[in-house]
Amino acid sequence: MTGPASAPRALVVTGGVPCTGVVRTPGEKSISHRAVLLGALAEGTSVVRGLSDGADVAASLRAVEALGAGVERRQDGTVAVHGGRARLHRPEGALDCGNSGTSMRLLAGLVAGFDWETELVGDESLSSRPMDRVAEPLGLMGATLTGRGARCEPPLRVQGGALHGIEWTAKVASAQVKSAILLAGLSASGPTTVREAVTTRTHTEEMLAEAGADLTVEPWGEGRAVTLRPSALRPVDWVVPGDPSASAFFVVAGCAVPGSAVEVAGVYGGPARLGYVRVLQRMGAAVTLHPSGGNTVTIRATAGPLQGTSVAAAEIPSLDEVPALAVAAAVAEGTTVFTEVGELRVKEVDRLDAVAAMAEAFGAAVRVEGDTLAVTGVGGALQGARFDSRGDHRMAMAAAVAGLAARPGARSVVTGFGATATSYPGFAADLGRLSAHAGTGGGAAAPCPLLVAIDGPAGAGKSTVSRAVAAELGVDRLDTGAMYRSVAALALARDVAPEDTSAVAALADSAVIEVGERVTIDGLDVTAMIRSAEVGRAVSVVAANPEVRRHLVTRQRAWAEAHGGGVVEGRDIGSVVFPQAPLKVYLTASPEERARRRHDEAPEGVARRDRLDSTRDASPLREAADAHRLDTTGRTVQDVVQEVLSWL
Ligand code: DC
Repeated sequence: MTGPASAPRALVVTGGVPCTGVVRTPGEKSISHRAVLLGALAEGTSVVRGLSDGADVAASLRAVEALGAGVERRQDGTVAVHGGRARLHRPEGALDCGNSGTSMRLLAGLVAGFDWETELVGDESLSSRPMDRVAEPLGLMGATLTGRGARCEPPLRVQGGALHGIEWTAKVASAQVKSAILLAGLSASGPTTVREAVTTRTHTEEMLAEAGADLTVEPWGEGRAVTLRPSALRPVDWVVPGDPSASAFFVVAGCAVPGSAVEVAGVYGGPARLGYVRVLQRMGAAVTLHPSGGNTVTIRATAGPLQGTSVAAAEIPSLDEVPALAVAAAVAEGTTVFTEVGELRVKEVDRLDAVAAMAEAFGAAVRVEGDTLAVTGVGGALQGARFDSRGDHRMAMAAAVAGLAARPGARSVVTGFGATATSYPGFAADLGRLSAHAGTGGGAAAPCPLLVAIDGPAGAGKSTVSRAVAAELGVDRLDTGAMYRSVAALALARDVAPEDTSAVAALADSAVIEVGERVTIDGLDVTAMIRSAEVGRAVSVVAANPEVRRHLVTRQRAWAEAHGGGVVEGRDIGSVVFPQAPLKVYLTASPEERARRRHDEAPEGVARRDRLDSTRDASPLREAADAHRLDTTGRTVQDVVQEVLSWL
């Protein structure tokens, strides 16, 4: 049941908690992909500092590993890539690029240089993206690429080997296509030239040159021509600068949450990536850029009043910063008009609609007309809100910032927060660190995973209500009673007397108990068995054993850590297991109603169990002082669930 901490599935944010301190965003994605791929080709060990920890770059890492490169995640947070052409070999299975178009197109170029066949596959969305744009030039170089249909959609098969250089003039402005051709060109006979009328991101040629490739760049019209001669690469210690789009969330928090002073260090400052900073400056924000070596900048932001402005799409080319800027607009005095932002409709979700819904939920007035979004701010603190990210990482992060910009003490809940894992799994932790600095006075709390503790006696409705609340919030649920029942069932199966405290504690310590929709002990399905009358009789004795409780409470806490919070039901969840839970519920019902609900158990059995559970010494059933109490007698499930959700 243990596992690594994961991004909260739902985040609880308290308004008015200022952000102070220094933060670094995860490594810029384009540079991260290239550091990994060049590392695989370079003769020796490359070390990458600040690699993006999102799912896309993880796909590139898995791919180069499958090709024979060594990938070593070091204690200090760096990633070492042990590469070299002689190490690489035909992968055993297909290379899974997940959702990452960059991985697939760049890898196509990389493997084209080797005389074997590689299959590249991706998720549903990647499987409908065109690969003909790389298939054509790589085909001209001597590789054979096959995919589905005229657009050569994945799965993509690449038969590589014996390439020769080509002169290629770009048909679509694409840094990915340029990069694929250059990676293939490393092992081609003769020089390879790529001409582009519009200069696309220049990371590949810059990083190839740094790794010792024989390469020249010349102006070509408005764009450039890159010529690469066959080259071996040497390892480089890469320092990946911070992602500029991710910096926007912290900078907006710094500007919009009173009392904040935030510094985002080591952000990639390349062309056109920090347009959002100029927008904030026009809004009157105290935001400044400071060169910090190489291609990076440090951004400083201090809170102050904001005014509405006009934002042209061209200022923020990928539109990635609109969700964060919409939060600033919601806080500002007056109206901020974003023009020509229709492209937002075809992002991961209809982000135009999502941004509008978010700004509205937090109290701003919003108008969408055609491709124009107008947000009229409240001129101060927002209202708290419950908002769902719709599975979009940027919406989740923006809503968290909006929650901080709400009135002091107002609580917001952002569901669908797990989406942040695609680009920034550590976002909640980083935001929490910034707001924790200031969180000492007044009991203000930093953002934290949503954990709902539901306690109460047998038959009070805990299971039904916790299941429904978890479903509404999109989080997981843990039935801790099933864990105690599992230990009791195991004792009975092993002929261990429930009263034999040390023997039962040893079972609780060693058994692998998995509680989800099904319950298993050491891999064996016991879902039905733990509900037997026999187990029902034994469980109260087992649950009164302090050693058993100690083992199971440790596992319950680990579960919450690994699941990014959730809904946990039991008897001592709010009082002992998670005393800090942001929402505690204590359910009751009349004895008659509880007996009716537990019709499978004799009424005297339920009464006996309740008596034992509430009179034992070790964590007896007890209502936490700060729990919301709710009598479910005669009420519908939907009604109860809505009331519980209203307490958020
Ligand atoms: O929720 P349930 O009725 O399935 O729980 C079975 C027993 O486990 C119950 O009699 C009390 C005990 N229990 C406990 O002591 N602490 C918990 N957190 C959960 C259950």
